[in-house]
Amino acid sequence: MADSIADKIQQLRNEIRRHDVLYYVHNAPELSDQQYDKLFAELKALETEHPEFLSPESPTQRVSEQPVAGFETVTHAVPMLSIDNTYNEEELRAFDERVVKGLEANDYDYTVEPKIDGLAISLRYEKGHLIRAATRGDGTRGDDVTSNIRTIRAIPLILESKDIPDVLEVRGEIYMPKRAFAQLNALRTDAGEPPFANPRNAAAGSLKLLDARITAERKLAFLAYSVGQATTPLASTHYDALEKLESFGLPVNSTAKAHNIDQVITMCRSQENAKGSLGYQIDGLVIKVNRYDQHDILGATGRAPKWCIAYKFTAEQAETILESITVQVGKNGTLTPVANLKPVLLAGTTVKRATLHNFEQIARLDVRCGDTVIIEKAGEIIPQVVDVIVKQRDLFESQPFKTPTKCPACDGSVQKDENGVYLRCVNPNCTAQLRERLEYFVGKGQMDIDKLGPSLIEQLVDKKLVKTFADIYRLRFDQLVQLGRMADKSAANVMNSIEASKTRPLWRLIAALGIRNVGGQSAQVLADELGSLDKLKAATVEELTAIDQIGPVMAESIYDYLHNADNVKVIESMLDAGIKPTAPKKKKSNSLEGMTIVITGALKNFTRQQIEQLVKDHGGKIASSVSKKTALLVAGENAGSKLEKAKKLDIEIITEDQLQQRIS
Ligand code: IVH
Repeated sequence: MADSIADKIQQLRNEIRRHDVLYYVHNAPELSDQQYDKLFAELKALETEHPEFLSPESPTQRVSEQPVAGFETVTHAVPMLSIDNTYNEEELRAFDERVVKGLEANDYDYTVEPKIDGLAISLRYEKGHLIRAATRGDGTRGDDVTSNIRTIRAIPLILESKDIPDVLEVRGEIYMPKRAFAQLNALRTDAGEPPFANPRNAAAGSLKLLDARITAERKLAFLAYSVGQATTPLASTHYDALEKLESFGLPVNSTAKAHNIDQVITMCRSQENAKGSLGYQIDGLVIKVNRYDQHDILGATGRAPKWCIAYKFTAEQAETILESITVQVGKNGTLTPVANLKPVLLAGTTVKRATLHNFEQIARLDVRCGDTVIIEKAGEIIPQVVDVIVKQRDLFESQPFKTPTKCPACDGSVQKDENGVYLRCVNPNCTAQLRERLEYFVGKGQMDIDKLGPSLIEQLVDKKLVKTFADIYRLRFDQLVQLGRMADKSAANVMNSIEASKTRPLWRLIAALGIRNVGGQSAQVLADELGSLDKLKAATVEELTAIDQIGPVMAESIYDYLHNADNVKVIESMLDAGIKPTAPKKKKSNSLEGMTIVITGALKNFTRQQIEQLVKDHGGKIASSVSKKTALLVAGENAGSKLEKAKKLDIEIITEDQLQQRIS
């Protein structure tokens, strides 16, 4: 009996591992997310029932519950060097000349691969088992980030193969895919936290967290690009070594061979144009001499090997004047400095504002009002100030920027938050935070009280008529009319719009509360799963975490929020005032059960929200991009790249009418 359970557990682990490789290494999943989750749940259930068979290398054990106190220092067996940069054809040719000279020969070739914009990691496998993961650090010593790295599903805990060296250090880049980056930032903005400037910062920030449970939620990815220590050589060339790594089950950076520098240059040109098409950010290409024996001949300087060079893409930049710095107070109190700029055109859009991230960043750049600054779009998305042209500064007028010691809105005290970078206003009665929270509450994606705009909110807060969400529902017509200059008609509109919000769907109310880390998508999951506010309040952290898509960090913030006496009072007071959120509808049919559906193009019968609801009501799942996992593409008019991709992947394509037919 015991034997067969142990076998079954092992079989499930192997099966999950096989699907991880299919998904992460070969980009060719055989299972849908649901089918994969089912395997996972089955394994988890067996392991819970039979803890004697638990193993740290089980896929269920990737996330450690115990936060680490700090990171231990690791000395790298082989130093992790940097790469010298080039920016144009001329410099690439100069590199090639140095290679010829160093080798005293012409029989060499190159490999060309993306320079991923993330952070370097060294994974140490002993007898095929992942025993340590370390950051690059200063190249000689880095941080032991094993518990965080183990949460990345693309990284195997065990390597599959007969010919793995006893010790094998795999080197590669940890990065955050563009989609995960966009989602994380949306969530952070939603939750009143400052967004990350670019995917690299997001990846680095996520890897340096002391709590691996948070890292696990950050959707980090990994690609291998070289080998550190190896007790037996994998191959005689870089290209073949990467193929070997891939055969061990590791995801490997896409790498091409080039016979000479002309071919390298052609590839650099075409990749610079295509850089946006990858799912992750790259900032250039890395060119390496292919043969290992030639690496030895060429050697290295203290900083970088001579057989390797980076070709960096040029980021578009613009120069402008920083007119002022505004400090914004988020709904959770975070102070974010924003640069107000003289409008300037950058990569196709007019930029008037740029993020300065935080006050340490301002100090580092010593950026001051009136400065001429260089701005760049980080990760081609968010404009940021990257440099100051100090020699254009007016030395008599210029003053360093002073980091606020008080909240600019309420004068309350500020504190550095846990990771020590952001300042937060800690005054629970800060009116700026209250305004932000109320604006969020009434926002289109939440309670949608459209007649309660920002200026009215400001007046209501100033007059102390609204101190909590519940006060919105206690407002009286005569109070509004007395607010000055408000006509009876407008006041009535406001009252109606508040009234209409009382029966919004439950998920909107959950989202509107502005619980840290909980955005609209998670609110929908919670509402669908639990069905009522009472059930949400009664749920334990464990129960919340057990819900698909709800991680432990989110679960904890939900629990904390709903167990804070003030919050409970406000919610009860709202219910007293007559709000009655509508419970989620039960699924209408299962005709789309298990199908991941993408919608594209202009629809004629439905709004986006309606059709998405329709799909969900019938058991389907909506995805925003086409992949091999897509079951159906619903294409409206003028569909573009998604349609093309679906055709290429041979995915079934239907019209909205056909979707309706299928459902009925
Ligand atoms: S090879 C000795 N290959 O770039 C060379 N590095 O600027 C070892 N990077 O620290 C690195 N993509 O984090 C290599 N395809 C690639 C890379 C890559 C990104 C990073 C790596 C390194 C940094 C140097």
